[in-house]
Amino acid sequence: MTLQARDLAWETGGQPIVKGVTLRVPEGRFLGLVGPNGSGKSSLLRLLAGLRRGQGGAVLLDNRPLSTISRREVACRLALVEQQTATEVALTAREVVALGRTPHRGAWETWSAADHAAVAAALKRTGMTDRADQLWSTLSGGERQRVQIARALAQMPRELLLDEPTNHLDIRHQLDLLKLLRGLGTSCIAALHDLNHAVAFCDEIAVIKEGALVAQGRPVDVITADLIRSVFEIAATVSQDPSTGRLRVDFLPD
Ligand SMILES: Nc1ncnc2c1ncn2[C@@H]1O[C@H](COP(=O)(O)OP(=O)(O)OP(=O)(O)O)[C@@H](O)[C@H]1O
Ligand SMILES: [Mg+2]
Repeated sequence: MTLQARDLAWETGGQPIVKGVTLRVPEGRFLGLVGPNGSGKSSLLRLLAGLRRGQGGAVLLDNRPLSTISRREVACRLALVEQQTATEVALTAREVVALGRTPHRGAWETWSAADHAAVAAALKRTGMTDRADQLWSTLSGGERQRVQIARALAQMPRELLLDEPTNHLDIRHQLDLLKLLRGLGTSCIAALHDLNHAVAFCDEIAVIKEGALVAQGRPVDVITADLIRSVFEIAATVSQDPSTGRLRVDFLPD
């Protein structure tokens, strides 16, 4: 058990946003976080990453409260790819990816072969090698998203948190990324909107509604027509291919 939330609560301006969430990111597996717009996914990810402190409960990393661990140690362990990133940065794609190595180097250490290798591997895995020397500000939306993911990979985290990582990606790059995340062997939690992607690629799914966790478990146990109706307020059917075991969600018109 590496990263978990225990009865975690966060409010802002007197409004409860995250309401007593208890959740575990299974070690080395891919956990999908699904829920409607405004249900608290991004807020929860920021709490899990330690960018924000809750008023109640705790985030635990290896059973230690995250709040007692140094920023540097957290940054060596855990990477977050946020939903929106600043766009006016005068850096090349490679330099943005290289930022992921910062926590691993002492203040006076120069670049090591391992740093260079990590950056090159991250660019390659996200298909961004050819664009490495292009200025970040001139990249397309999908290319920027892939560079942010490459930065997180270069960080070589043991826990990887991603907020809608498939945003801006074309369908092939969406599928490539989900495959990559599933195959990393890193504990991974990603907010996703596409339920068919979540059931196809995630080992487990956590469902959040109005700031509260309503379910966590294997896709086949969690993603049911009843759950989709109660959480997303839409009619759907969930079917399973008897030979492959693959789940499929179909949304029904009113
Ligand atoms: N700093 C803040 N101040 C005020 N309200 C906030 C703040 N951060 C989040 N909220 C509110 O908390 C709720 C949850 O927001 P959050 O961004 O976590 O949702 P989400 O599930 O990620 O939604 P989406 O699917 O649209 O990305 C929203 O109603 C949002 O307006
Ligand atoms: Mg969000």
